[in-house]
Amino acid sequence: MQDALPDGGMVRKLWIGEADLYREHLLRLDADSRRTRFGGTVSDATIASHTATAGLGTVIHGFFVNGTLRGAAELRRIGKAFAPEAEAAFSVEQPWQSRGVGSVLLERTLLAARNRGIKSLQMICIADNRRMQQLARKFDADLSFDFGSVVGEVDPPRSTPLSLMREFVADGHGIATAILDVQSRLFKPV
Ligand SMILES: CC(C)(COP(=O)(O)OP(=O)(O)OC[C@H]1O[C@@H](n2cnc3c(N)ncnc32)[C@H](O)[C@@H]1OP(=O)(O)O)[C@@H](O)C(=O)NCCC(=O)NCCS
Repeated sequence: MQDALPDGGMVRKLWIGEADLYREHLLRLDADSRRTRFGGTVSDATIASHTATAGLGTVIHGFFVNGTLRGAAELRRIGKAFAPEAEAAFSVEQPWQSRGVGSVLLERTLLAARNRGIKSLQMICIADNRRMQQLARKFDADLSFDFGSVVGEVDPPRSTPLSLMREFVADGHGIATAILDVQSRLFKPV
């Protein structure tokens, strides 16, 4: 699954142990993006504790440019480890917004939700967030989204061998590029 992304960026899943990258990305968001991402004003400490709790029930897709995380989509189960409900949240740093990154992240998140048997996906979206609403509309075959409320309900279709294969192929590409990312960071002069 190859997508055209700005600045030669790539999307891959974050590994366990990359919570620091996620925290640093969220802390870099400008004030308005931080507010819309969390549905209100949150402190740096709240962001730190939020990222520290991303565990096995969480899948985070990251958008990387030159090894730096510039966008993320978090899929987090609500309740028990195999609960069929999850919530999704998206963040793209301001210079990379409106360039198609959110669309790719939402597509990957819906595929991951589908393959994990998630039946209901909630999205925190404040009512004046036109861009997120426009983004959700692009996937309205998979989404039912109530723009009047703060929570959008998504009903991803069930997984199929093809949908599992699509995620597997996307991960294979992501892992290869992730290894290159680590190498480029190792060889980058400090
Ligand atoms: C919402 C967000 C994730 C969208 O990601 P993005 O990379 O900017 O989105 P895309 O470039 O893929 O654009 C999505 C759609 O919004 C439209 N759009 C872009 N800018 C817009 C704007 N200012 N107003 C309305 N629609 C806009 C695009 O045209 C596109 O639709 P199209 O492909 O049909 O033309 C990103 O802007 C962001 O992180 N915002 C701050 C945090 C946030 O609001 N998170 C969502 C709550 S969980």
